[in-house]
Amino acid sequence: MNVGIYPGSFDPITFGHLDIIKRSAKLFDRLIVAVLSNPQKEPLFTVDERIEMIRESINDAPNIEIDSFSGLLIDFARLKQAKVIIKGLRAVSDFEYELQMALMNKKLDERIETVFIMTSSKYSYLSSSIVKEVASFGGCVSSLVPPLVEKQLKRKYKVN
Ligand code: PNS
Repeated sequence: MNVGIYPGSFDPITFGHLDIIKRSAKLFDRLIVAVLSNPQKEPLFTVDERIEMIRESINDAPNIEIDSFSGLLIDFARLKQAKVIIKGLRAVSDFEYELQMALMNKKLDERIETVFIMTSSKYSYLSSSIVKEVASFGGCVSSLVPPLVEKQLKRKYKVN
C-alpha cells in the first residue's frame, strides 16, 4: 500500500492546508495527516482540538486518516510504513527551511522521500500564525479557515 504522511502543527488548520490535503490524498492509497504534539511550541489549541477541527473539515474522506505524533517525524513515518512525506510550499521564503528539513530527514532514513506540493496561489499568503493574529484582534477569517475553526478561534480569543 502506498502511504503518504502530511505533517504539521495545524494550529489551527487553514484552507491552505486543506488544499494540500485534498490534492495529496489523490496521490496515495492512504494519507495520514500527522499533527505534531509539541507543548514547547505553546500551541493555541490542544492536539485533540486540532484533530477535531481537521476531522470536521475533511468530511470523512475514506483514505485520509488523522493522527498525532511527538518526537521525530521520520520515526513516525517508519512506524506507519509511509514512504513519502508531503510538504506544502507557499513561497521562496519557505524553501530554505524546508530544504534543510528534507535533507535531514533523508539523512535519517534514505528510503523516505519528501515531496513538495505548491500551494494554490490564492492561499500562498496564508499561515496559521497570520490567521491567529487576525482572529485575535477580532478580524474576519471566514474566507481563510473552515467554519468550526472560525468558531473555535472566536472562543479562544473571546471575540464575536
Ligand atoms: O506546521 P509546521 O509547524 O510548519 O510543521 C513542522 C513539522 C511538524 C513538519 C516539523 O516541525 C517536524 O517534522 N517536527 C518533528 C520533529 C522532527 O522530526 N524534526 C526533525 C526534522 S529535520
